[in-house]
Amino acid sequence: MFDHFECVKVELTDGIAWVRMNRPEKRNAMNPQLHDEMEEALTHLEVDPDAKVIVICGAGGNFSAGQDLKMFFRENEGNPLGRKTSQRAANRWRWELLYSYDKPTIAMVEGYCVGGAFMQLLATDFAIAAEDATFSLSEVNWGILPGALVSKVVADAVLPRHAMYYCCLGEAFDGHEAERIGMVNFAVPAAELEAKVEELAHKLMAKSPRVLRATKQAVRNVRTMDFGQSYDYLAEKGLAIRVGDQEDSYNTGLRQFLDEKAYKPTFEPFKTGTMIEKK
Ligand code: COA
Repeated sequence: MFDHFECVKVELTDGIAWVRMNRPEKRNAMNPQLHDEMEEALTHLEVDPDAKVIVICGAGGNFSAGQDLKMFFRENEGNPLGRKTSQRAANRWRWELLYSYDKPTIAMVEGYCVGGAFMQLLATDFAIAAEDATFSLSEVNWGILPGALVSKVVADAVLPRHAMYYCCLGEAFDGHEAERIGMVNFAVPAAELEAKVEELAHKLMAKSPRVLRATKQAVRNVRTMDFGQSYDYLAEKGLAIRVGDQEDSYNTGLRQFLDEKAYKPTFEPFKTGTMIEKK
């Protein structure tokens, strides 16, 4: 299905879709074609029942060196239509699509993660980095500011002084620092990166997809709501989970804990595939 792609590679193994930015010779700098292919890949995977968790990563040992300064910026100068089209495509998958994606998403960061790549880094639900990864909000070093939504998503993700420091200095930092300031969930030795990502993916796959989807949407959306809106939204969202939940998770979980003493919700998910049909 994705054989015609040149800038994105998709591998589907054991429920995990590895979606790789694939321009290793350019450190996976994102050109307009890569943006189009990412949008196509992610849209298909969102409805593919074999894809349970999506991992956004890069080929050749790097996440991404950001927007392609030649093909995305320079070659679109004097071409407002090309520029607008590329910008829209870039923003659609890096933000709109990933931010509200139906399935859990993980960014796996190794090597370089620069500039515009912070959009998909922060749009994913989780991020794990190699300790020796190199992050940089480099824009200030070549005469622009972190544009599209980069300044916004960085400012939302970390404490104000961290956002100000790294946006204004453009100083590179490693995976440990990314973890310290909350840019990624955790940093691990490079040799363990893929295994840690798989471990997290399998943990996510053990949850009810419907409950997980509602929970991640709720965590994102309440950030901009006041208390009244949050009470109301979360109550309705809680009810909405129950409609069409194939595992009847709420009743199954309660039954397994209270009646069957089969598990402890504090430590593990309930056992799936044991729903009792209502008469
Ligand atoms: N846009 C376009 N081309 C890029 C690129 C980018 N963002 N990042 C790297 N490349 C290209 C280089 O021009 C080079 O192309 P060439 O082989 O045709 O000369 C190739 O990728 C390899 O890059 P190089 O700089 O030789 O590799 P490196 O490993 O020594 O350094 C980086 C890697 C990422 C540190 C360095 O390339 C860099 O600083 N890139 C700019 C990143 C940036 O500022 N991105 C922000 C965009 S929003």
